[in-house]
Amino acid sequence: MSSAQLIDGKSMAQDVKRELASRIKRLESEAGVRPGLAVILVGDDPASEVYVRGKIRDCRDVGIRSEWIRLPDSNPEEDLLRQIDRLNEDPRFHGILVQLPLPRHISAERVIHRIRPEKDVDGFHPINVGKMVIGQEAFLPCTPYGIMEMLRRSGISVAGKHAVVVGRSNIVGKPVSILLQQADATVTLCHSKTRDLAAHTRRADILVVAVGKARVIGPEHVKPGAVVIDVGINRTEEGRLTGDVDFEAVRSIASHITPVPGGVGPMTRAMLLVNTVRAAERTAG
Ligand code: GUN
Repeated sequence: MSSAQLIDGKSMAQDVKRELASRIKRLESEAGVRPGLAVILVGDDPASEVYVRGKIRDCRDVGIRSEWIRLPDSNPEEDLLRQIDRLNEDPRFHGILVQLPLPRHISAERVIHRIRPEKDVDGFHPINVGKMVIGQEAFLPCTPYGIMEMLRRSGISVAGKHAVVVGRSNIVGKPVSILLQQADATVTLCHSKTRDLAAHTRRADILVVAVGKARVIGPEHVKPGAVVIDVGINRTEEGRLTGDVDFEAVRSIASHITPVPGGVGPMTRAMLLVNTVRAAERTAG
């Protein structure tokens, strides 16, 4: 049986990081600017801890200055907002990222609003979201940006294709549906209330799945030759990482598929670095 081509996010992310390392060197030698990223983690959620550690390591790999600010779970919101105010004014940091989710007593909305849009390398501030929607230059949220970059680097054309997105989160589903539409795809956005999901997904030339539940998409959901992008990261009972797509069953039907791990995740991380370098380049004029 034929098998889909793997979209290797890990090796693409390495390419992106190599490209960035030389951009960073140039920025330092020509403008005297070293890009900097401040990452704030509130509390000790183990998954968030792993993600932040990865982001800090990525920064080191490419030559971005980074600072990891750890605040206790009980940290008052007012104190977090003051930390953001301080970083907004600190010229050493071009990007500020507050790791989500936040403890219940802190409003993610107030926190995101507080970050200066020019330093919002997550692309979560309403100013950046609004600019993205109307097609203006803006920081794009890292996962949707990474997905578009994976399609581009795989030589997969989007214009005129039917793209189906499953999941309508603010972080992935909604923004990626907008970017696909701006790249001239015809887009269907499916979600938890969609009736007959398979009837929609079977019409997809490009299927993006961002639900957060293992095996939401099986072979019955996929048109032969479709490109399948799996955004999910789930843990099996045995502790293995797995996506939202039944990878083994779908890979014999799709033309291209992203693995989990090693697909969208590494490219999401790489795009955070891209946004940080771009934020620094902007300050250099
Ligand atoms: N938690 C899970 N994904 C993300 C992300 O992309 N950015 C931030 N800040 N927190 C997250």
